[in-house]
Amino acid sequence: MSIGSSFGLPKNSRLRSGKTWPAPLGAHRLKELKIYRFDPDANDGPRLDTYFVDLDSCGPMVLDALIAIKDQIDPTLTFRRSCREGVCGSCAMNIDGMNWLACTRAIEDIKGYVKIYPLNHMLVIKDLVPDLTHAIAQYASIEPWLKAESPPPGGRERLQSHRERAALDGHYECILCFCCTGGCPSWWWNADRYLGPAVLLQAYRWLVDSRDEAAGERLDSLEDPFRLYRCHTILNCSKTCPKGLNPARDIALIKKMLVERQF
Ligand code: SF4
Ligand code: SF4
Ligand code: FES
Repeated sequence: MSIGSSFGLPKNSRLRSGKTWPAPLGAHRLKELKIYRFDPDANDGPRLDTYFVDLDSCGPMVLDALIAIKDQIDPTLTFRRSCREGVCGSCAMNIDGMNWLACTRAIEDIKGYVKIYPLNHMLVIKDLVPDLTHAIAQYASIEPWLKAESPPPGGRERLQSHRERAALDGHYECILCFCCTGGCPSWWWNADRYLGPAVLLQAYRWLVDSRDEAAGERLDSLEDPFRLYRCHTILNCSKTCPKGLNPARDIALIKKMLVERQF
């Protein structure tokens, strides 16, 4: 199976309706959630289960509802989470049609029932857990660490001016949630060779780091019809980033660097 398809949705198969779980007894403010379920060991394909949570006894975010369901209704529901603060990136999923962090999406902002799927166009390990192996390997391929041959001045840390440090703003905040990459049509079609917006934003972050001495080598490795140039400026990535970053702009700036170095 290729990257870009889903274990949960093989070709020509449909997502079937699953179980409707009973609503909590005595609840006054019910919210309905329809959640993608896929168990690789069950061999019966994906389904959409329906749950209800009581908003009066549940925290305000979608992640709070998922935790309430797992704790009180269905302990088999599987998802990733860690920080609950929008900083670890592990709870990224498709909520009400948009990739976002479950811990920063207020459940009451969603009209009607809440649809929750894994990040789109990724292989699914189980339920809402995408397999990020390929995306992380693409990240490793840009060598995301400081590369410098010259010794640090005075044998101490490499200092930056305020302006040099400010050049990293809008890039270093990326938490590698891959909401943008999962939402990028070019990555859906060419994930085997196109790096996708999250990895390219990270590549730009190292290109503009004043302490790094490998910009030429980094640009060489990006100058490729697929790794970089499969971005068609569709802008889904910048629209979906839950940290308010702009990967599409960074990709355009890498292309500009490549043009400018010819002169
Ligand atoms: S702008 Fe580029 S990276 Fe962003 S969604 Fe579109 S094709 Fe993908
Ligand atoms: S750019 Fe935004 S959406 Fe993409 S991985 Fe980083 S934080 Fe997530
Ligand atoms: S749990 Fe860490 S970003 Fe949501």
